[in-house]
Amino acid sequence: MIKKDINVLAIETSCDETAAAVVRNGREVRSNIISSQIELHKIYGGVVPEIASRKHIEKINQVIEEALSAAETSLDDIDVIGVTYGPGLVGALLVGVAEAKAISFAAKKPLIGVHHIEGHIAANYIEHKQLKPPFLCLIVSGGHTHLVLVKDYGEFKIIGKTRDDAAGEAFDKVARAIGLGYPGGPKIDKLSREGNPNAIMFPRAHIEGAPYDFSFSGLKSAVLNYLNSLEMKREEINRADVAVSFQEAVVDVLVSRTILAAKEFRMKSVAIAGGVAANSALQKAMSKACAENGLDFYCPSPVYCTDNAAMIGAAAYYEYVKGNYSGLDLNAVPNLRIGER
Ligand code: KG4
Ligand code: ZN
Repeated sequence: MIKKDINVLAIETSCDETAAAVVRNGREVRSNIISSQIELHKIYGGVVPEIASRKHIEKINQVIEEALSAAETSLDDIDVIGVTYGPGLVGALLVGVAEAKAISFAAKKPLIGVHHIEGHIAANYIEHKQLKPPFLCLIVSGGHTHLVLVKDYGEFKIIGKTRDDAAGEAFDKVARAIGLGYPGGPKIDKLSREGNPNAIMFPRAHIEGAPYDFSFSGLKSAVLNYLNSLEMKREEINRADVAVSFQEAVVDVLVSRTILAAKEFRMKSVAIAGGVAANSALQKAMSKACAENGLDFYCPSPVYCTDNAAMIGAAAYYEYVKGNYSGLDLNAVPNLRIGER
């Protein structure tokens, strides 16, 4: 039985954001500090792992101090240290894990390793106090596209995933092809508002015998072929039409598969999570489809969709309640699978 408030200091360094947060009782964000490296990686068109690790080392202490001071608290008031230990870039993860272990040891606070995707799912708990498992969650980020049954806090069953590119990866690659730069998702989202969604019919992949799996590499190739064929004919490319037609194809498969799964598994609530969950067309279409099918729909605010430490604090709290502590031998696991500890 937990008697008092539990404050988690959470750390996230799995990719290109150095982030720390203080979260009370898994749902109340007292501070959420994110130092983004996007500007540094932009010129390379994507995240450069070596630069990411180096920058995390430079920033991590300052970001943690800021998180504690923005929450008007100190380490004395912290009960648990939560940290992302996978999946992600190994060098980047190691910075957060080493830091969390050092604080845990020095301050004598329990340590909890958090799965990054479990964190994305938990982002939904922050602003939706009524949301409790079971529910269906679609996680769509730069590295993942998963349909997950959240059976209980920290208990998951993957029912579908991408066979090739992640949804965010497809957004980033198509954005690069039409000259929008990195990261492409938000730029496609914005440009799409000026385009005609019915201009180009891009393919929607269905995988025989796997109704909840996804594939985006065919769609990406179709966009590239379309761009090449226009270039060969020296015809002008309407970038907004390409952006919105591509976005429609992605949103279509994400929504239809999620609704199908919710019905099949008799779920009453659907949540979305991860960077692509910030996409305005996806939010709109999923919210509409859920309403039409009598399902409750949940989505985090954009700041909790993309990588942040508050979501790691939320997930760490529920692992803490279950007593799932980590030892000081916690290591970074770049290809950690969800549901594993
Ligand atoms: O969750 P996240 O911050 O990092 C990973 O764990 O991968 O997701 C980043 C991904 C990138 O691919 C980015 O382009 C995409 O999320 N993204 C979006 C939007 N905002 C971010 N994709 C579509 N529309 C958006 N508004
Ligand atoms: Zn992420």
